[in-house]
Amino acid sequence: MTKYVIHGGRPLHGEVEISGAKNAAVAILPGALLVNGVCRIENVPNISDVTLILGIMENLGAKIRFINPTTVEVDSTSVYKQTVPYELGRHIRASYYLIGALLGRFGKAAVPLPGGCDLGDRPIDQHLKGFNAMGGRTDVEGGFVFASAPADARLKGASVYFDVVSVGATMNLMLAAALADGMTVLENVAKEPHIVDLANFLNSMGADVRGAGTDVIKIRGVKSLRGGVYSIIPDQIEAGTYMTAVAAAGGEVRISNVIPKHLDCITAKLLEMGVEVEEDGDAVIVRRTGKLRRTNVKTLPYPGFPTDMQPQVAAVLCLAEGTSMLTEGIWDNRYRYVDEFRRLGAKITVDGKVAVIEGVKQLTGAPMSACDLRAGAAMIVAGLAANGVTEIDQVHYIERGYQNIVEKLAKLGADIHEETIKNPDEDWRSSAG
Ligand code: EPU
Repeated sequence: MTKYVIHGGRPLHGEVEISGAKNAAVAILPGALLVNGVCRIENVPNISDVTLILGIMENLGAKIRFINPTTVEVDSTSVYKQTVPYELGRHIRASYYLIGALLGRFGKAAVPLPGGCDLGDRPIDQHLKGFNAMGGRTDVEGGFVFASAPADARLKGASVYFDVVSVGATMNLMLAAALADGMTVLENVAKEPHIVDLANFLNSMGADVRGAGTDVIKIRGVKSLRGGVYSIIPDQIEAGTYMTAVAAAGGEVRISNVIPKHLDCITAKLLEMGVEVEEDGDAVIVRRTGKLRRTNVKTLPYPGFPTDMQPQVAAVLCLAEGTSMLTEGIWDNRYRYVDEFRRLGAKITVDGKVAVIEGVKQLTGAPMSACDLRAGAAMIVAGLAANGVTEIDQVHYIERGYQNIVEKLAKLGADIHEETIKNPDEDWRSSAG
């Protein structure tokens, strides 16, 4: 077990390079199961969620070969089974993409109900509704989703109108429809950058997907997909997290390997708060020298402010002059970090989906426990700005989605390192009751 130890209060300076997008990678890699050939996928983030997905694909018979730490070759010609073992699949949310991919290619799939961060109720009814509309049959039994195509083993193109805008359901249906018989029309779809990235990946392997990035996606099924080379987009949320780190700790950092357009929703809020953000080709330069101003933030589907940046922006608002209002528009329960922030002296009250944050002049370091991926990242952001020592445990959550976060921040001048928790029984939390 490890923890991160931060001596806060040092401004950040220098350059940080953003890795490939987690939420694109965890859909594109399963997408390689649709291809009867070899896909070379570049800019793959080196994070534990990717390791888990690749481990599952290997278990299904795919051959996985790393060319370098961020380029992987997936050969799906040898896939021979369509059942994901419970122990492998249950820990990761994105295992649901294996349903769409296996169902699309082989006409059947058995996948454990997905796990992932606890953000409140996380149903997958819209995914199942879509598969059923395509002539599939889905049953949930014994912790597994069992899905099968009609007897001739090919799903049929269909029209699906989603009741809610869902990233997962949109991408899962794109995967299922790529090899289906006929045209699938998906309406009221999500428009996140990773939706467009999955469409581009599928098209570069020979699929016919149009409209990704708008409200309607049309997929004309093709008979087979061929292998090829594809490079995953940079991670919007990782970039946003470093932007908030600079906003909170102060300093000036060039954040490179980004698509600035994807960051507009985050940039707009930081500008309102008095942070300077400058576009420079495929980089943004973020600078904060003065005081932070209050603002209100509401999370919404893209191009709205991303829910996956809500805890990190909360960390910055804790230090802004005045009272800010934060509204969570996607998840029922994404404020589990608030109690931990209070240990630093943050003044936050939560009522349902709304958090009211009264800015304080200074946070003071304290021990905290990462309760999910983005909450953990936000604790780092807060710890970098706080006076004194912050220790964060349960960092396995953070490692699900951030490649080398400790090294990247240390390179920017942060005083942060990893420590082994030698005897967890003697750790502060175990004696706290
Ligand atoms: N929803 C339903 N039924 C469904 C699917 C979703 O009611 O069948 C609801 C959810 O309960 C939620 C809303 O629709 O209220 C949006 O959920 P969505 O399906 O978009 O979320 P997801 O696919 O489970 C992905 C990301 C999350 C991110 C959300 C929203 C992955 C693996 N996860 O989750 O990322 O918060 O989209 O953008 O792509 C993270 O990276 O930290 C993370 C949690």
